[in-house]
Amino acid sequence: MKLAVLSTVASLAIVGPTMAQTPPGFSPATTKTFTVKFGNTAVTAGNAIKLEDTAVAPSFDFGDVSSSSAHVVAMLDLDAPMGDADRSYSPLLHWMASIPSGDKSSATAKDVAPYAGPQPPVGYGPHRYVLLLLADPSAEFHLPSGFENQTYADVTSRLLFPLEKFIAAGNFQVAAANWFTTENTTATPTNSTGPSNSSSPSTSAPVTAGASGLQAAVAGVLLALMSLQIFHL
Ligand SMILES: *[C@@H]1O[C@H](CO)[C@@H](O)[C@H](O)[C@H]1NC(C)=O
Ligand SMILES: *[C@@H]1O[C@H](CO)[C@@H](O)[C@H](O)[C@H]1NC(C)=O
Ligand SMILES: *[C@@H]1O[C@H](CO)[C@@H](O)[C@H](O)[C@H]1NC(C)=O
Ligand SMILES: *[C@@H]1O[C@H](CO)[C@@H](O)[C@H](O)[C@H]1NC(C)=O
Repeated sequence: MKLAVLSTVASLAIVGPTMAQTPPGFSPATTKTFTVKFGNTAVTAGNAIKLEDTAVAPSFDFGDVSSSSAHVVAMLDLDAPMGDADRSYSPLLHWMASIPSGDKSSATAKDVAPYAGPQPPVGYGPHRYVLLLLADPSAEFHLPSGFENQTYADVTSRLLFPLEKFIAAGNFQVAAANWFTTENTTATPTNSTGPSNSSSPSTSAPVTAGASGLQAAVAGVLLALMSLQIFHL
């Protein structure tokens, strides 16, 4: 317990109490953070996490964010599907889990939208993923009016998640946030029979696609998302 308090004080001293815990430009912004970990790897307001470490939902703890209400955690991709080239699916809901009143960690969390791990396409750079901790004024979390029939069982129901509307409809308060980036650094497949070979293994080869090439790529990303096992619910 002492240790936990000390480490909190130490991290506050390093981070500073006024540093945003949401990505630059993201709204709603907050300076309050909560503990999010992929295995033993902590999310620290914008750090890069290895893609393979994000395959399973993170654990979280918000013991420092005092509240007696129910909570819900939402994880959103702000760069879906292809970062600077195309954000037309953003924000994309990757996860939503509710925590009953009185509890403060993932130990008792229940999936509202089952976890779907990040799938940033190769060659378009890292994606930003924000985790928002929302306080629900009621003792038990319910999807707010207008969202009550959502099961988030297919990817199309998760595109362009209307965050502001969701927060307003549920009368939620942003209690804390955290965020990370991750990238698929798998090298683009090389054509062994082809004449050219990139001189070095490029982890994020810049893809120059024309308008139609880009559309095809976007459609490919959506198809890839739809075929994910995690969406076979
Ligand atoms: C990363 O890219 C490779 C090559 O395209 C693909 O096979 C793999 O499924 C991708 N990984 C994830 C988690 O999206
Ligand atoms: C949810 O489902 C109920 C029962 O089918 C229906 O009456 C209601 O209009 C639906 N709400 C929304 C927001 O679609
Ligand atoms: C590989 O390169 C050969 C020769 O340029 C070409 O005919 C073939 O279509 C290429 N294969 C792929 C998968 O790009
Ligand atoms: C292509 O590049 C890779 C990575 O640098 C290298 O391992 C491989 O031998 C190259 N293949 C050819 C045919 O040059």
